[in-house]
Amino acid sequence: MESLFLFAVLLELEKEFLSSFIRIHFNFYCFSFWEAIVRTWIWVLFFSQSLLATEMKLPWSALPKTPPIPKNNPMTPEKVYLGRQLFLDPRLSKDGTVSCNSCHNVMASGGDNRAFSAGINGKLGGRSAPTVWNSAFHTVQFWDGRAASLEEQAKGPLTNPIEMAMDNPQAVVDRIAKIPGYVSQFKKVFGDTTITIDEVAKAIAAYERTLMTPNSPFDRYIRGDKKAMSPQAVRGMNTVIEVGCVSCHTGRNFNAPDDLPMGEGFYQKFPTFIDNEYVAKYKLLEDKGRGPLTKDEGNDYFFRVPTWRNVALTAPYFSNGAIKTLDEAVRVMAKVQLNKELTVNQVADIVEFLKALTGERPKQQMPELPPDPPGMTTIDG
Ligand code: HEC
Ligand code: HEC
Repeated sequence: MESLFLFAVLLELEKEFLSSFIRIHFNFYCFSFWEAIVRTWIWVLFFSQSLLATEMKLPWSALPKTPPIPKNNPMTPEKVYLGRQLFLDPRLSKDGTVSCNSCHNVMASGGDNRAFSAGINGKLGGRSAPTVWNSAFHTVQFWDGRAASLEEQAKGPLTNPIEMAMDNPQAVVDRIAKIPGYVSQFKKVFGDTTITIDEVAKAIAAYERTLMTPNSPFDRYIRGDKKAMSPQAVRGMNTVIEVGCVSCHTGRNFNAPDDLPMGEGFYQKFPTFIDNEYVAKYKLLEDKGRGPLTKDEGNDYFFRVPTWRNVALTAPYFSNGAIKTLDEAVRVMAKVQLNKELTVNQVADIVEFLKALTGERPKQQMPELPPDPPGMTTIDG
């Protein structure tokens, strides 16, 4: 589009302006000579620009302005606000101590920066909490992709015994239905009098779709501001293309091809090369990923490729949170996925590029939570 536009402008310039400019400034005898020179120069400039533009074709794209929104869950300001309340409300857990935000801190990294998250009574899970920032762009959710949408995902932690530990989905609904403020809000948002677990999940998912981080230095760079990334970050960008990280970390969210439909996962084996010191050191063979989930050994050690966006904020790294620093994560990835040793400089450049993927986090305001009915508590666990 851009080059077509430039092309049209150039043609117009040639016709209207250049010829008369040359006629006025150069004497008649030289006219055709100078015209030829200037015309050639303009066209060389144009074609070298378009060549540069093709050279800049990168395996990623800028973060779109809006995430994919399912037809059956349109976003409205009221629904998003309700979702934010539910996301931050610890009363959605058995003993009233744990909210989604306990493990996905939207005031910070969108995760909890721990290897394993602590749920109810401090119980630890077996995987690291991924960030919720930009999760709306994942085609499937969880490290092993076991939820096909944010709506489906949101129902998981509420009843997971080591997370929020509600007895069952109905217990969640009953708890919410005891809080008069929520009842009237659900009625306004969904237009019915009975609250359902699907509505709870829909509201939370609608809120999560607002958790986007646009305008990272990389996004500004790819949109044409060539100064947005430092020369070192640009070197790092070229290095990840050269060494082959992009065969997996591709697309707008650096974790799947952009044309992959929602609900379909982009899974890759991890670790791929196991004959190295890192595998034992970081216990990389303990979690079999999708294998146990699909009950198919062929899927052992397959994981959904995780995003690179905001990765500088989300240490520790990997699904088992075993790696504390980003430079070590990069070194280990190169070895276990590509069987390559990177130089110290290559690692530093790549880390600089990954830092350029930290976007602008929309400011989060604490919502007002509707109170329990006067003179009683809704917590029974
Ligand atoms: C006790 C900590 C904890 C709580 C509470 C919790 N989560 Fe998570 N969350 C996790 C962990 C750990 C994972 C990864 C689990 C896995 O992949 O097997 C995860 C995964 C996710 C993902 C998938 C992200 C991705 O990149 O795939 C989303 C979205 C999410 N949680 C949202 C929520 C919502 C919404 C709530 C509240 C209803 C919630 N979480 C409550 C720990 C928690
Ligand atoms: C064959 C596919 C593949 C290749 C190639 C690959 N990765 Fe990964 N990457 C993955 C998968 C899958 C994971 C998730 C592994 C896990 O923790 O379960 C991952 C995880 C990561 C993480 C940790 C993300 C987090 O949130 O914890 C970083 C950082 C990373 N990769 C960087 C790189 C770099 C840099 C390269 C190139 C040197 C690279 N990757 C090459 C598939 C790949």
